[in-house]
Order: sequence, then structure tokens, then C-alpha cells
Amino acid sequence: MTSERFLSTPAQSTSDRAADIAAADNFLVVDHLSVRFPTHDGLVQAVTDLSFSVKRGETLGIVGESGSGKSVSSMAVLGLHDAKSTRLEGSIRVGGQEVVGADESTLRKLRGKEVAMIFQDPLTALHPFYSVGRQIAEAYRIHHKVSKGEARKRAIEMLDRVGIPQAKNRVDDFPHQFSGGMRQRAMIAMSLVNDPKLLIADEPTTALDVTVQAQILDLLQDLQREFNSAIIMITHDLGVIAELADEVLVMYGGRAVETGATKQILTHPEMPYTWGLLSSVPEVSADEDARLIPIPGNPPSLLNPPSGCPFNPRCTHKDKVPGDLCVTTLPELLPARVGPSHRRRCHLPDPEVIYLTEVLPEIAPDLIDPTTGEPIAALQEIAAASEAEANADSRGDQR
Ligand SMILES: Nc1ncnc2c1ncn2[C@@H]1O[C@H](COP(=O)(O)OP(=O)(O)O)[C@@H](O)[C@H]1O
Ligand code: SF4
Ligand SMILES: [Mg+2]
Repeated sequence: MTSERFLSTPAQSTSDRAADIAAADNFLVVDHLSVRFPTHDGLVQAVTDLSFSVKRGETLGIVGESGSGKSVSSMAVLGLHDAKSTRLEGSIRVGGQEVVGADESTLRKLRGKEVAMIFQDPLTALHPFYSVGRQIAEAYRIHHKVSKGEARKRAIEMLDRVGIPQAKNRVDDFPHQFSGGMRQRAMIAMSLVNDPKLLIADEPTTALDVTVQAQILDLLQDLQREFNSAIIMITHDLGVIAELADEVLVMYGGRAVETGATKQILTHPEMPYTWGLLSSVPEVSADEDARLIPIPGNPPSLLNPPSGCPFNPRCTHKDKVPGDLCVTTLPELLPARVGPSHRRRCHLPDPEVIYLTEVLPEIAPDLIDPTTGEPIAALQEIAAASEAEANADSRGDQR
């Protein structure tokens, strides 16, 4: 990934040719997307100035609390927002095709064939009155001129592929005859029946128990290898991100607040909101007694977003930022201190030091020396080195 992929500042004046090359490389390019809903109470600013891209064969994890704009942005990719009641700005290109402002027939060609979506609740996608097999077959016939018999054969093949036992015998079952996990598999079969190049999975395993969840995630990875599809995995669970995603986009209040390679974000997060998300993941620490610290406060209003940094009303680190920048000025999404493709939206001058010395000991106490109560030596060394580097940088800035 290149650092340009998550730029939120206005795009440089790239030539059309450069844009074409980028589009060929990235199957999905979302560029300065804003999605707003006029309501009786005012304008809901659901997504603001969001930019990201995804390549074939790659998984982007979008993570954030409920209401952060994850579903609204992915529905925009499929052109699912009602044009009359939605204000869309920016650009979304799927395989080079612009989605924003496209007519319904163009969108119909894209949906299913180029991009497909797996929803949290399979019953939003599966009709209760038709058999599972018939629905998968019909989805296939939208994009392929084949007989009903051939489409049915394809449905059985897909059900088999997603691990429905005795698919031949279950193809005529109705959704209610399937268990929750099987319904989710059936929806995945329906989403994949036309070999979409981009699959958007919106909290696909939230309602499932842990074992079935693991099976579904394995299945998605297998299918991705087979079809070389791009995947967007939307979740509030950083554990799922750790397992599946190559890249991460952390959203807060409709904006990107931290982005980069998954390993980078999980080991060197530089934004207090991401720290908050990490604090609520038990897997961060091997220590069973590790405290899970919920993020205090509530997500921001999208009708009247707070001034400055959207996270400032809940941030426990804003006193470390000089002056009142956090409440007056929106931080830009700028390159982070550590990691080439890493970007973060925060005014903190030395977040990596704060993370290692204050946040990590709090969420992973097994990294603290039990006799002294201090962070273990390795952490202190890293923190000291980062601090020295930061000081050298700021001396350089002053010169
Ligand atoms: N059609 C709509 N009209 C008004 N507000 C909406 C509409 N759709 C979504 N929203 C609001 O947009 C915000 C983002 O929603 P969403 O993308 O669904 O969040 P999530 O990150 O949980 O998927 C929420 O506050 C939601 O209430
Ligand atoms: S900009 Fe300020 S308020 Fe926002 S996350 Fe950083 S320190 Fe906290
Ligand atoms: Mg959602």
C-alpha cells in the first residue's frame, strides 16, 4: 500500500493518466466521499471527506463504533442510497466505473457482478417465501443467460462450496429451515454466485457464535484466495481485523482517524480513539486479568459535530496537546511517526511514546515488570529511542 491511498487532504493535481493507473491498480477508489442526509432535525453528516482504496486479492478492515459511518459508506459503494434523500459528494470508482451519479441500469450491472455485499442479518437478503436454491439461482440469472436447470446446478455448486452439507438435498429448503450459521453461508453463496471482484462484508459474523464465526471467516479467506476478490470487512471487532485484514481504516464520527497496514495499526497505534478500541479487545494481552477499559462517553453527534477533533469530548490525552488545538482545530490525516503507510488524525506530538509508556501498560499489564511496577525494559528502551528521535526532529524543525 502507498501512503496516498488514504489521503484526506485535497488531492494533488494528478493527471488523468496517473488517475487511470491508480484505478487499474486499485479495484475500488473512494475519493473525498461525503454522505449527508437532510432530516427534520438538520443535516446528518454521516460520512465526511473519506478516501480509501482496495486492490484485488486484498482485505481492507473498516473498524469503528456503531454509528461511525461504516455501513453508510459501503452502501454508497453499491449505489444503494436514495438519490432524493441523500447528498453525495466526491467520487467512488469501481473497476474504473464512477458510481456517484450513475444511473440505475449502470448500478444494476455493477451490483452482484462487480460488487456484492454480505449483511449482518441474512434475512435482510434472503426472502422467506422462496427456497434458498431458487434465490441463489435467480441471482445468477440476473447476470448470466442460462437455463433454470443450469442456474440450479450453479446454486447447488455454490451451496456446496460454502460448506452446506448435502447441498443437493438442501437446495429446496426455505431460509427458516436453515440454522443461523447456514443462512449466513447461503447468503455468502448468493453474494459470490457471480464471482464479484469486490465483496463487502458488513459485520457478517456479529450474530453468530464464536465457532461458526471462525468458520465463516476461514471460508471468506478461502474464497478470496480462489477468486482473487477484494474484500472490505466491516466490524467493530479488532480481533476480526487482526485475523483477516491487510489494511485497516479506523472510522470515528464519519471520518477516517487512523489508517495503515494492520500489523502497524495493531502494534503502533497513534490515535487515542484506536487506543480505546484496542483497550476493549481481550486478545491484546495474554493475561486473563488484563483490564478491559470501555471508551468513556458517547459517539459524537452527526447533526452538530464537536468543533476541533471529533474525539475531543472523550479524549483523556488532549491535555498533552499544546494550547486548545484539540477543541478548535480539526487535525488532518497526516503520516504517522512510525510506519511508511500509516496515517493518523491527531494533534499529539509524540503519540508513540504515550502509547508505549502509558496506554500499553494499562491494557497489557503482563508487559509491566511485576516487581517494580514499571514497563519492562524493552518498552522503556523503545520509548526512550522514540523520544530521542522526536527531540532531534523538533530541534531540526527549529533550525
Ligand atoms: N437514511 C438515513 N437518514 C438519516 N441518518 C442516517 C441514515 N442512514 C444512516 N444514518 C445515520 O448515519 C450514521 C452512520 O450510520 P452507519 O453507517 O449505519 O453506522 P455504522 O458505522 O454503525 O455502520 C448514524 O448516525 C445513522 O443514524
Ligand atoms: S487531536 Fe486531541 S482530542 Fe483528538 S485524539 Fe488527538 S489528543 Fe485527543
Ligand atoms: Mg453498520
